[in-house]
Amino acid sequence: MTASADGPRPAATLLVRHAEQLVTLAGHGDRPVTGARLGEVGVIRDGALAAAGDRILAVGTTEEVERSVSLAEGADVLDAHGRTVLPGFVDPHTHLVYAGSREAEFPLRLAGASYLDVLRAGGGILATVRATRAVGEGVLADLTRERLDTALSYGTTTLEIKSGYGLDAGTELKQLRAARRAAHRHPVTVLTTFMGAHAVPEEDRDDPERFVERVAESMVPAVADAGLAEFCDVFCEQGVFTPEQARRVLEAGRAAGLRPKLHADELASSGGAELAAELGAVSADHLVYASDEGLRAMAAAGVVAVLLPGTTFSLMGGRYADARRMVDAGVPVALATDANPGSSPTESMQMIVNLACLQLRMTPEEAIVAATLNAAHALALGTEVGSLEPGKRADLVVYAMPSYTYLPYHFGTNLAQTVVAGGRVAWQRGGWR
Ligand code: NIG
Ligand code: FE
Repeated sequence: MTASADGPRPAATLLVRHAEQLVTLAGHGDRPVTGARLGEVGVIRDGALAAAGDRILAVGTTEEVERSVSLAEGADVLDAHGRTVLPGFVDPHTHLVYAGSREAEFPLRLAGASYLDVLRAGGGILATVRATRAVGEGVLADLTRERLDTALSYGTTTLEIKSGYGLDAGTELKQLRAARRAAHRHPVTVLTTFMGAHAVPEEDRDDPERFVERVAESMVPAVADAGLAEFCDVFCEQGVFTPEQARRVLEAGRAAGLRPKLHADELASSGGAELAAELGAVSADHLVYASDEGLRAMAAAGVVAVLLPGTTFSLMGGRYADARRMVDAGVPVALATDANPGSSPTESMQMIVNLACLQLRMTPEEAIVAATLNAAHALALGTEVGSLEPGKRADLVVYAMPSYTYLPYHFGTNLAQTVVAGGRVAWQRGGWR
């Protein structure tokens, strides 16, 4: 809980004190959280947290923490009276590096065109591919940095970014470099994923296998050699890439040191959950149409299910992922925005927590664990971020709310007051002028 009370007290460079509720998510150990434990958040009343540099030093009641640490000269002291402190959100699934936008498709979709109809007509992902191919790396990095700023302002301190709007080696590498450039000196910790197999590009429509071969044999090694990604992902879906094609790309990725992830069973049951389990993927994402066998296999293999209710909401999908069935099956459930210009144009994890409760029927506790600690596990970062425990990175958010239940209850506005990333105040709500 706290640093030792004997001997010289360690010097804190940041102290947050007198939180109405400090939600720690402590005590879950090194594994993703499953079953009934998903409801355990751990609340300290009149809570405090001290950090030294970018690490958490002590967590406890204000009295305990103030007794166990001293204050370094110039330390930041934040008074959280009447406010609630939570770990920073981890957003483990975004497509933040893109140019252009797709609001022109929005009225078409409102009038009844499906997501895949738009894609087949050369729009959708392919429209964003054209826009992204057309701009330089600097422009792409600037656009991405602005979106990272937005995510930070809503409480996200760790975020994954996928490529996949290039579909050729040059543009995919450009996207991944732009993501790294946007992240440079940015408070949000960014991890990157190569997703060359996001759609079949127009130039390979006559022969999708040729494209899959290029992704596996030439793009994967180029990305890995340049050290530009941690993970590899494929859009495994009826009408996009088959499980066999996905396996080929993900196995090539793994051989090159990129850990597998998967867009699975988003629009139809496509064998994605089964494949994720077979490959021991870090996560399988979407899973709206995942089969019972697929979920059982994922639970046994410890694959994290990343649910993306913003996508179903925005696509007016009608059917949301069955979070209750997943929790009951012992699958570790996480949440993410899927931030992208087509199917989920939002950077707000607060909105996702809200949808998780109202549409996936998760409890506020489950949604919070899913959006922080389990989301960290979906990036293999569960021992580094996602909970407020000594030794972990000091990423936290002070919210203008009296309890954590307020977060999914009060919707559509930004409740973040102060965002701390790596022990430093990174964003603060501005005043009225
Ligand atoms: O996760 N499903 C595929 N890819 C994204 C959408 C990307 C886009 O429409 O631009 C998704 O929903
Ligand atoms: Fe996605």
